[in-house]
Amino acid sequence: MLNKTVHEALNAQIKHEIYSSYLYLAMSAHCESKNYSGMAKWLKVQSSEEYGHAMKLFHYVQERGAAVVLQAIDQPPTAFGEPLELFKKVLAHEQQVTTLVTALYELAAKEKDYPSQFMLQWFVTEQVEEEKNVSDIVDQIIRVGDTPVSLMMLDRQLGMRASK
Ligand SMILES: [Fe+2]
Ligand SMILES: [Fe+2]
Repeated sequence: MLNKTVHEALNAQIKHEIYSSYLYLAMSAHCESKNYSGMAKWLKVQSSEEYGHAMKLFHYVQERGAAVVLQAIDQPPTAFGEPLELFKKVLAHEQQVTTLVTALYELAAKEKDYPSQFMLQWFVTEQVEEEKNVSDIVDQIIRVGDTPVSLMMLDRQLGMRASK
């Protein structure tokens, strides 16, 4: 049986992952409207990755014989500024998610829910990669400067991200 506190926290995390998906989709729409179609593509792929994270938790809760209770999703912002500002926002969001995932992992450990702890290890590792990918983009923009030419090149580079 799934521990009650862990169960509630997992349902909440499903919402956080769906919100991440929603947020990146909104960012993708913003980039598309500014004609950064490569960045828009990258964010769309990121959005579907986040949806995948939500589904991982969704299936896990069901596998444990517990009920999935979907919660209301907040409306994401509609404008995110220039690319540097936008990717800084992505990084800040991922750092926030890392805090949530860490707290969830600690909760599972505290409640001695070892299967959940084991499952959440994947998310802990995933966050390391997520933060690195985005901070690399932020660093790149800072290093080469956010001139129209360098942003055009970054846009082309990010547009090559494979869809999953
Ligand atoms: Fe995620
Ligand atoms: Fe993420």
